[in-house]
Amino acid sequence: MIVPAFGLLLVTPFDSALFNYSCLSSSFYGNYNDGGIINSVLLPEQSCFDSWSSQTLAQSASISVATQEIQQLVWLEQEAVDIQLLTETRSFVNEFDSFLQRISHPQVELENQAILKQDLVYEILYRTRTAALLGVTSDTARTIDTLLPCFWKSTILPSLPVKFRDVDASSTGYVKHVLETLKPDPIVASIVDTISIPQMKNDIRYLSGEDSASPIISRHSFSEGALTAAHWLKDRVEETGATCELWPFLTGFAPNVICRYGSVVSSNSTVLISAHYDSRGSFGSTRAPGADDDGSGTISILAIARTIARKGVKFHSNVELVAFAGEEQGLRGSRAYSRHLREQDANLTMVIQADMLAYRKPGEPLQMGMPESIGTPEVTQLVVDLAAIYSPELTVGTSPACCSDHQSFIEQGFPATQVFERNGPIADPMYHNSGDLSSREGYDFEQVKAISKVQFAALLHVAGFEL
Ligand SMILES: *[C@@H]1O[C@H](CO)[C@@H](O)[C@H](O)[C@H]1NC(C)=O
Ligand SMILES: *[C@@H]1O[C@H](CO)[C@@H](O)[C@H](O)[C@H]1NC(C)=O
Ligand SMILES: *[C@@H]1O[C@H](CO)[C@@H](O)[C@H](O)[C@H]1NC(C)=O
Ligand SMILES: [Zn+2]
Repeated sequence: MIVPAFGLLLVTPFDSALFNYSCLSSSFYGNYNDGGIINSVLLPEQSCFDSWSSQTLAQSASISVATQEIQQLVWLEQEAVDIQLLTETRSFVNEFDSFLQRISHPQVELENQAILKQDLVYEILYRTRTAALLGVTSDTARTIDTLLPCFWKSTILPSLPVKFRDVDASSTGYVKHVLETLKPDPIVASIVDTISIPQMKNDIRYLSGEDSASPIISRHSFSEGALTAAHWLKDRVEETGATCELWPFLTGFAPNVICRYGSVVSSNSTVLISAHYDSRGSFGSTRAPGADDDGSGTISILAIARTIARKGVKFHSNVELVAFAGEEQGLRGSRAYSRHLREQDANLTMVIQADMLAYRKPGEPLQMGMPESIGTPEVTQLVVDLAAIYSPELTVGTSPACCSDHQSFIEQGFPATQVFERNGPIADPMYHNSGDLSSREGYDFEQVKAISKVQFAALLHVAGFEL
């Protein structure tokens, strides 16, 4: 149980001044996106709320009271998608109502063959056109992502309050230094240019199951295919000289795949680049090839690993290449791992998450979209500057598509950003669809390579290296 009956819930636009109230900051359950606005969820005591409610900030808070004990809170949000993808039938009211029907009626066959048996227990605590906060049972929370309309995503809130941490000047200091002293490096250019598109094509066909020799049907976090993919990724990256570990974080979920290259000089810092290898299909289908979301980010990480080996790159900082699981259920794998790194007091100098790199709307140029709302400005700027140097073929802009695994690191006070396939909202018609394959119109390996070059250049510049 995380909310008692009659417990108070606040949803309020994020403002660091909230944390000046110690009774509020000790009831903070994280930040969540609602149509580009970042909201904080808090579960304060009545007395705390009363003392705060006269503040100006309190005027924009949405307040609700749980009518019954709540086992789990789940945040639902509509992703920023291109208007063309939102047809009449996908109006919020219709989609959301049919979704509520699905979670309230048993006998719904899920991808993993489980049947929802429990009676309806949900409560709507906050609802706008683009987001909702629901109280549900623990069982519903586990499977809710498989019942969502396709442009919606869900995040299970943590069961305990989380500590708010700003990404402060001490943690962004090193990236800032790299940014201020940045010069084009012809050796970096010669390394990143050799990322291999034919290799990426083979890799994605295995991960998506398009290769007839691949046993993978789905990489949904609870699927057999996700475990197959995890072992395969571990083996492939280990072949490049890294040490990899399958890192379990929650029962029933496939593990994170965490690969490390040690520094060849004495160093206490780590640079981390990542993607999520889990996927989602369409409602009612067991197939979840996820070639774009996020097979494309996963093959970019793998392509970087393969190039590290081919070129004999040795780093002057510790480097981690990570493929997360549980992203589609609300950043589960990365939340666990970033919390672990914080507990270890890791000196994480930079994180870049690659989530959806491949889709290019016909007629549009090769693009790279940087996050509008969730990203550390210094890291985002470094990535933009590196793109101009190493991938001038990219048109760089911003995207409202947000909230991938980099958010977990920002929540822990680590400097992080994301790279995305488009300037503007999601336009991939196969987003969260069983048709998300690599052999289709718009899936562009040149764009995956161009963005991968930028991630790799950031890694080389920030970690430092020798050949
Ligand atoms: C919150 O505290 C910080 C210092 O910790 C201060 O700079 C800021 O002005 C305070 N904000 C409000 C709204 O009280
Ligand atoms: C980490 O290394 C830097 C030099 O690269 C040094 O200034 C710093 O004190 C070291 N920190 C720790 C905790 O050892
Ligand atoms: C973290 O690593 C960077 C880069 O090596 C270094 O400059 C900085 O001093 C380190 N910080 C700490 C707290 O050790
Ligand atoms: Zn994704």
